[in-house]
Amino acid sequence: MKDFMKLASEAARQAGEVLKEGLGKRKRIEYKGEINLVTEIDRRAERVITKLIRASYPEHAILAEEGEGKEGRSGYKWIIDPLDGTTNYAHSYPCFCSSIALEQEGEVILGVVFDPLRDELFSAEKGKGAYLNGKRISVSSIGRLIRSLLATGFTYDIKRDQRNLKHFRNFILSSQAIRRDGSAALDLCYLGAGRFDGFWELKLSAWDVAAGALIVEEAGGRVTDFRGGKFSIYSREILASNGRIHREMIRILQRSDD
Ligand code: IPD
Ligand code: CA
Ligand code: CA
Repeated sequence: MKDFMKLASEAARQAGEVLKEGLGKRKRIEYKGEINLVTEIDRRAERVITKLIRASYPEHAILAEEGEGKEGRSGYKWIIDPLDGTTNYAHSYPCFCSSIALEQEGEVILGVVFDPLRDELFSAEKGKGAYLNGKRISVSSIGRLIRSLLATGFTYDIKRDQRNLKHFRNFILSSQAIRRDGSAALDLCYLGAGRFDGFWELKLSAWDVAAGALIVEEAGGRVTDFRGGKFSIYSREILASNGRIHREMIRILQRSDD
């Protein structure tokens, strides 16, 4: 593979500098919805990432959350969330990252997620394993839901769509504990690193999950829809786990749907 990984890692690190620099400072905040916000730092970090990619691969397509995207016919598409965990960021809660993935002919072949505060760079290339700061990572070996630490998140339209409250209730009664940390990309990486054992969420966007889902799979985990069917980064549900508790998680999700 060309030096896509080097470029993605460099772009994520440069965006990380922007995030670190802006943390805790007064910043302009716009509201996309009642509780869905975006800061000027989200946009600045996105420009840093897309500028680097455009300079190296002007013919590649880009799908980026804050609108710096573009079409392209090369078969390659970069999928970017410059700041995942923006609500945390706006409150100076130290849990956020930048996420960059590369799709080739519709298949995600590379993912990088960088947490600038912990200096943790999670990465994976299709078929080559998953890494944290260059060291191989793998999912946990916990085999029962009741022993599992799970993670989830809630969509910004929670007032209209409260399905995940039911899932949350059922999971919290059948697992060891649940964390709701506010960055889906980091949740997935933590699963890949064995820190979480399972993760589910509704209505995420491709930029939230593209890098993280590949990292989970390359770390030996499983990623599907809520019924165990094929996962797509463009679908509206994701169930990810260490593989061993997947069936139990599907059963809980189906119970909540009844
Ligand atoms: C959000 C985070 C959060 C998830 C939301 C996402 P953003 O992304 O990943 O964990 O629950 O659904 O939209 O807005 O911080 O980039
Ligand atoms: Ca996001
Ligand atoms: Ca974002």
